[in-house]
Amino acid sequence: MIKEALIRTVNLTREFKIPESKEGLLGSIYNLFSRKSSVKRAVDNVTFDIGVGEFVGYVGENGAGKSTTIKMLTGILTPTSGQVLVNGIAPYENRVQNAFNIGVVFGQRTQLWWDLPVRDSFDLLKSIYRIPDDKFKRTYHDLADTLDLDPLTKVPVRKLSLGQRMRCDLAAAMLHNPKILFLDEPTIGLDIIAKDNVRRFLARINKTSEVTIILTTHDMDDIETLCDRIIIIEEGKIAYDGATELLKRDYVRYKILEIEFHDHNPEFKLSPMLEVVKTEANKKWLHFHQGDRSIHDVISALFRDYRIKDISIHEPKVGDIVKTIYENRTQRRRVTAKDA
Ligand SMILES: Nc1ncnc2c1ncn2[C@@H]1O[C@H](COP(=O)(O)OP(=O)(O)OP(=O)(O)O)[C@@H](O)[C@H]1O
Ligand SMILES: [Mg+2]
Repeated sequence: MIKEALIRTVNLTREFKIPESKEGLLGSIYNLFSRKSSVKRAVDNVTFDIGVGEFVGYVGENGAGKSTTIKMLTGILTPTSGQVLVNGIAPYENRVQNAFNIGVVFGQRTQLWWDLPVRDSFDLLKSIYRIPDDKFKRTYHDLADTLDLDPLTKVPVRKLSLGQRMRCDLAAAMLHNPKILFLDEPTIGLDIIAKDNVRRFLARINKTSEVTIILTTHDMDDIETLCDRIIIIEEGKIAYDGATELLKRDYVRYKILEIEFHDHNPEFKLSPMLEVVKTEANKKWLHFHQGDRSIHDVISALFRDYRIKDISIHEPKVGDIVKTIYENRTQRRRVTAKDA
């Protein structure tokens, strides 16, 4: 199915000027007068289309360029070069108009007024977005219901726990019924229950209201449970862009065997296809790499040679695959450094 592109970036690039800085006392004096600087390309020729109703995970290591991209999509930062259109609007040129179409949540800091009770923040947003009374009531009740907001509305934002604040931030971002929701690490620091609540809320608005969601996160379980597409960014460049299912199909070269032994955990004579990755009490976890022998042959041989109580086979999780991609990158970097 071809979907209309709601978000489009073409060779989107953002550079930062970083002043040269020398250490020590003399260095500090030098820094005061020096005009020398270097350029950091935080986002480097990023091109993608995102269609209506997609739920995209935007992932990468620290400093990869995720937040910088989100900031350009929301109009907070101006691109150095390239184009970006969000619902047909260039966000940095029409920041206000863009704000009506999008909701934004930065997990690291709240968008709400710190000293005001939550309800007052919502009322302020109501007037900023010029939301009519009846529409506001309906949306608020719906959000309060799903995010359990009623016990929180009289509490000043600064007194909320992290999980409570995140529920309020999500509600605030959705009050004006935006088509698109940008989330920069919305589950950071949340406990399992709070994470689960946030995930359920996001899945719901994506499925039932077709809200398009772009999520940056370091939590691969967020990606696994929520995103049908994943974009991996490395040093500002797109390293992978495709369906989460395809990522598994294309990158998974192994399966995980979880073996439980009857009594003790034996020493293993391994073939090149098997690699022990973890040992615990009477259990071992092996990676089975695809090769000449089928997994069934290998399992039969294991049952023949060892006193095995149970074997289960698992697919690697998205987090394992992404980790492999990151590690390969680090290895490539080491090789290049050696060559240089
Ligand atoms: N205002 C700025 N001035 C200078 N450099 C910046 C600025 N903002 C970001 N950078 C640099 O750009 C690069 C990308 O930063 P960005 O915040 O986009 O990374 P990120 O992928 O969001 O990382 P994280 O996972 O740590 O949040 C980093 O090297 C960062 O130091
Ligand atoms: Mg970031």
